[in-house]
Amino acid sequence: MLENSKIIVDIDYCTKCEACADECSFFIFDSGTMKFAAAMEEDCIECGKCVALCPENIITLKFHKGEILRDVPSKDQLPSFKSLINLFQTRRSLRQFEKKPVPKELIEDILNQVVRYSPTGHNQENVHFTVVQDQDILKKLSEECTNQVKNLIKTFEDPQRQEALKAAFPPALIKKIEEVIPAFKNHIKDIKQGKEVWHRGAEIIVIHSPKNALTGMENCALAACHIMLAAETLGLGTCSLGYITNFFNEFKPVGKIIKIPLKHFVGYTLAIGYPKAHYYRIPARKPVKVKWI
Ligand SMILES: Cc1cc2nc3c(=O)[nH]c(=O)nc-3n(C[C@H](O)[C@H](O)[C@H](O)COP(=O)(O)O)c2cc1C
Repeated sequence: MLENSKIIVDIDYCTKCEACADECSFFIFDSGTMKFAAAMEEDCIECGKCVALCPENIITLKFHKGEILRDVPSKDQLPSFKSLINLFQTRRSLRQFEKKPVPKELIEDILNQVVRYSPTGHNQENVHFTVVQDQDILKKLSEECTNQVKNLIKTFEDPQRQEALKAAFPPALIKKIEEVIPAFKNHIKDIKQGKEVWHRGAEIIVIHSPKNALTGMENCALAACHIMLAAETLGLGTCSLGYITNFFNEFKPVGKIIKIPLKHFVGYTLAIGYPKAHYYRIPARKPVKVKWI
């Protein structure tokens, strides 16, 4: 056996095809014998491609030991480009959801069978999910968001407190807040009329990552994208929730309600549920902005 802290190779059965070395420079064939590069111990990101590429199936990632890996399905089991176009073009950000709970198993399937395979920088697999299905907690979240927004509006409308804010925060942040105040005021009007505006009355999936993660924001966005598309195929719909994502990060009492770890930031939030509105057409889009060089 050839072994380090992350990988075991049943070297007696190695045919020296070098498929592992062609993909990953941590595998070296020295006079026809497989060796690990010195940096492998520290720098291997456990992406598992060596395992997936080895025709003899003699490489094992230690953290996987015992787990039988699925064979790659044949090409005819993949969706066609045409069916993918239909999926991508019919996905909508829903603003209305049925008052019908989403079965936990469906979200579990999406997370385990789809999102677990979405790419992460350095294969860090450091994306966390908090699924909020409890109606009381959703209500609490919504109320806290409203409280925070009302306070923000009040602060901005008090000249003295606004001056204090301007002195304490960078101008770019102040400008951003000033820009959203009119939208917030409209939301408060809708709330007074009984509408739930922050999570569209739906269950939510909060996607978060350690603040010090290398590509945390990108990883969260990619995970969200996988969820959105997978949800469509299960008869569910989603909506990106930009405001509530910011509230989790900027207003501590909001994140506290669902116990987002203090060392994490929220990269994306999705409402998820059964669609209420029926769409007849695909909305128009502006031409793609592309430069060919
Ligand atoms: C990062 C991001 C944040 C968003 N935030 C919100 C939001 O807070 N509320 C909302 O109703 N839609 C939100 N959306 C949805 C967009 O408005 C929507 O994607 C856009 O209008 C295009 O519609 P479609 O997704 O149905 O194609 C957000 C989308 C993105 C990508």
